[in-house]
Amino acid sequence: MNETIVDIQNLRFKYMSSKELVLKGIDLQVKRGEFIGIIGPSGAGKTTLVSCIKGLIPHTINGKIGGKIDVFNMDMKKHSPDQIAEKVGMVMQDPEGQIIGLTVQEDLAFGPENFQWPVEKILDIIPENLKRVRLDGLAETETYSLSGGQKQRLSIAGALMTEPELLILDEPTSELDPIGREEVFATIKRLKEEKDITVIVVEQTVEELIGICDRIVVMKGGLILADDHPKNIFKNKDIFWGENRGEVPIPQTVQLSYMLSDGGYIRDEQISPYEQEISQTIQMLVQGRCYT
Ligand SMILES: Nc1ncnc2c1ncn2[C@@H]1O[C@H](COP(=O)(O)OP(=O)(O)O)[C@@H](O)[C@H]1O
Ligand SMILES: [Mg+2]
Repeated sequence: MNETIVDIQNLRFKYMSSKELVLKGIDLQVKRGEFIGIIGPSGAGKTTLVSCIKGLIPHTINGKIGGKIDVFNMDMKKHSPDQIAEKVGMVMQDPEGQIIGLTVQEDLAFGPENFQWPVEKILDIIPENLKRVRLDGLAETETYSLSGGQKQRLSIAGALMTEPELLILDEPTSELDPIGREEVFATIKRLKEEKDITVIVVEQTVEELIGICDRIVVMKGGLILADDHPKNIFKNKDIFWGENRGEVPIPQTVQLSYMLSDGGYIRDEQISPYEQEISQTIQMLVQGRCYT
């Protein structure tokens, strides 16, 4: 758990066509086995940051990059993403754009084929990867006929084919209803338990993150505003309830906590994202035992 696999220091990036820096000095270290959630308003630079970690920036997407970005001890400014491609699986924001194969099987074979894996080996691991995302038996199915949730889970299975050590998911549930979202998160959670891979997930539905993340990273305007355990991060009321109010997603439990804090009913230490904790606090308030 102590090995740092992503080491980012003062990372700055500007796209060819952008006027100003899109990443303005990011510091982020990720240790093996950690589960990191990234939240922040649209345009914060979340996709840009994960694209740097995958090495798409600056190699496939051009721009000016500065600072340090080492992934698996490789300087991504110099090394081509091919060198970490098998170790880093990425599911992009738009699943439609990522599905290439006509059938589920063809689609899953695409990545490993690029790495020149033998066909027998590829065919051999397809069923287990479909099972992991609960798409068992759909190998022959044509990809166009899958539902939104099935497509997002197929993208995850595709990213898992090469047994990556780091899995990056960029808004993997953006197009899903609550049930589809739950399915995807249940899949990620199970994977984490089975394989102990390192996960970085960008997600707007922060409720999904609080129960599974080791850390939540809050981004805005190309900077990291906060980086802490979900239990503690929301105690930083200024970040979520001040000028950024309504911009950075917060769980309803935290919203309730902030209202109680604004009213002087609870202390900031009592702010919590967990339903059980906040309901206990409310019970104590009702019984007049709080704030003594
Ligand atoms: N290919 C690109 N060329 C120029 N500007 C871009 C490009 N992609 C993103 N941007 C700009 O960079 C900023 C950060 O974008 P992005 O990383 O996609 O944010 P997020 O994922 O947090 O919504 C935005 O202002 C966006 O308009
Ligand atoms: Mg994005």
